[in-house]
Amino acid sequence: MQTNIGLLGYGTVGEGVARIISLEETLLSQKIGWPLKLSKALVRDLTAPRGFPPPPGLLTTNPFDVVGNPDIQVVVEVMGGIEPARTLILKALEFGQHVVTANKALLATCGKEIFEKAAQTKREVFFEAAVAGAIPVIRTLKEGLAANRIQSVFGILNGTTNYILTSMSQHATSFDTALAEAKSLGYAEADPTMDIEGEDAAHKLVLLTALAYGVLPSLKDIHIEGITKLEPLDFNFAAALGYVIKLLAKAALNPEDGRLEVSLNPAMLPKEHLLSGVTGVMNAVMVRGHASGDIFLSGAGAGMLPTASAVVGDIIEVARLEQTGAQSIRPSLGWHSLKGDAVKPAGDIRSSYYLRFSVEDRPGVLSSLAGAFAKHNISIAQVIQKGVDPLTNTVYLVILTHSAPERDLSHALELAGTLGFFTAKPQLIRVENLN
Ligand code: NAP
Ligand code: HSE
Repeated sequence: MQTNIGLLGYGTVGEGVARIISLEETLLSQKIGWPLKLSKALVRDLTAPRGFPPPPGLLTTNPFDVVGNPDIQVVVEVMGGIEPARTLILKALEFGQHVVTANKALLATCGKEIFEKAAQTKREVFFEAAVAGAIPVIRTLKEGLAANRIQSVFGILNGTTNYILTSMSQHATSFDTALAEAKSLGYAEADPTMDIEGEDAAHKLVLLTALAYGVLPSLKDIHIEGITKLEPLDFNFAAALGYVIKLLAKAALNPEDGRLEVSLNPAMLPKEHLLSGVTGVMNAVMVRGHASGDIFLSGAGAGMLPTASAVVGDIIEVARLEQTGAQSIRPSLGWHSLKGDAVKPAGDIRSSYYLRFSVEDRPGVLSSLAGAFAKHNISIAQVIQKGVDPLTNTVYLVILTHSAPERDLSHALELAGTLGFFTAKPQLIRVENLN
């Protein structure tokens, strides 16, 4: 008995999978009870240098050497992007092959179609590596916490941005240098805008929301904001105020109105919170179940071997199911039947805010600003004024607010903007106490 694997992609993740399957052959065989064998791997360029050179004949540029190949039982999609990945996965399911994928962009946008096809064809689609790299959060939500009503899921879900934020705040590295390092370490997406503008983490958040709440939010209904607007002085102010800035993913039921709030944005977190200590490429997820209480999972969120660890874990599970003929627990509540319920509009979500204004240093500015805030029911918790730039006569005014709906804050900022004393666009960062 043997399970044959076909890879769609032999890049960072594909190479990691090949390394583990080849170098841990005996261990895996002992764990499963029979060997795994890598049969074919799809690439674009047969001549490109490979860090873990494949055996002769493994690489191919013909996708149908993998998809629909009757000798291959499990197709592992680690090529990324929407097409041709989507079509190849659908075809593999039609041909009766099981699928393992690390492609969160694809599942967040076409997941319904893919899981519908999997249900029709009675094949599996496993995707542990699609969220938070090595951390087994999909299995935790699907199985370990299945007894719970999930109250909240908070997460740091992107390794590249967490690496950049850590380097900027702890080592004063520039944004561009930190991003270049993350790329060279194999953490970033083929298009790193997906990382830094928050889209990649939002894709993962959509998958976690679906598993936790059975609701598949549309990306356009989620407030998504990346890290490109953060400036070094915001890290300094955050530290002075006792906070750490993280790119925070949140899916939570509001205890007052019972509605689902889903957001992805930079947030100031209390420096003593567990999530604040998650640095570098590490990711973390904190799930609160009504019965389990808080569960905290942390581990490498990107990179060759951590991601391959999750992919090979899925391959092993599929291999066991394939050989025993058993059906797995479906990935969530039957994804194909998930509701597309709108989540709470961003404007209705309440938060506290850090606001940094660059204003002219003249009498009446603070009181006018406070007046604009009062008019829209924004209550100020703390004010800090720092230094004067003698060339521009500008001061930094930092305001922390009490909790307020985002819509009210936007109106207050619009009004303040008409008063004529801003010398630059205000900076806004949400403050989360994570209770
Ligand atoms: P990558 O290094 O860019 O590798 C992509 C591989 O797919 C390459 O081998 C490439 O061939 C092949 N490929 C891409 N498009 C193809 C096409 N149209 N036809 C044939 N081959 C094609 O990407 P990666 O970092 O491994 O990421 C792969 C997937 O895993 C993505 O969905 C990503 O979001 C996800 N993921 C990545 C990480 C990570 O840390 N990198 C972590 C979790 C999830 P060539 O080698 O010939 O170019
Ligand atoms: N680009 C992604 C990240 C890869 O940096 O987290 C892991 O999904």
